[in-house]
Amino acid sequence: MQMDYTGNRDAIVKKVAGNLKGEKFEHALGVEKTAVSLAHRYGADVDKAGLAGLLHDYTKQKDNIALAERYHIPYITEKTLHGHTAAAVLKEKGYVTDEEVLSAIRWHTTGREGMTMLEKVVYLADYIEPNRDFDGVEKLRDLAYQNIDKAVLYALQMSIEHIIENKSLIDTDSVGAYNYYRNLFPGEEI
Ligand SMILES: [Fe+2]
Ligand SMILES: [Fe+2]
Repeated sequence: MQMDYTGNRDAIVKKVAGNLKGEKFEHALGVEKTAVSLAHRYGADVDKAGLAGLLHDYTKQKDNIALAERYHIPYITEKTLHGHTAAAVLKEKGYVTDEEVLSAIRWHTTGREGMTMLEKVVYLADYIEPNRDFDGVEKLRDLAYQNIDKAVLYALQMSIEHIIENKSLIDTDSVGAYNYYRNLFPGEEI
């Protein structure tokens, strides 16, 4: 069954509620709302943004190591797997067939170099949706509506700093993304 977002949002929300509990469910609704808003701002497809936002964390509370084995997804750290496993599950079930939507879901955790507008919209919506509260979120919210590439760079920078502070592993896709977006603003203070 292909999920028709515009005509069938309630059914999709129910599916998400069945997979994400409490704050994680509220977060999915927040990302949907913010992704729609950013899509309006930048002329991306609003329905695709909303659908990707709603579904982006679909497998977050599942056993992602098991899913990675099942779908043969290589990984550096378990933490960044759920975007890839969500895209694989949603595609296999036939819930999402649109490759742009699947790609925005797939890359929402790590980012990647040269992201599409839809990918950037979902990546940032995940960071700045209304339930998010961390040092720098207001600056990132402002930046997201001023210059999306600068906002992506700022988010990547914060994310990589946070990973290093926590002595965790950095996914190479995030490194590629950081270098790509840093290169768009050489030497510039963000
Ligand atoms: Fe996520
Ligand atoms: Fe998320």
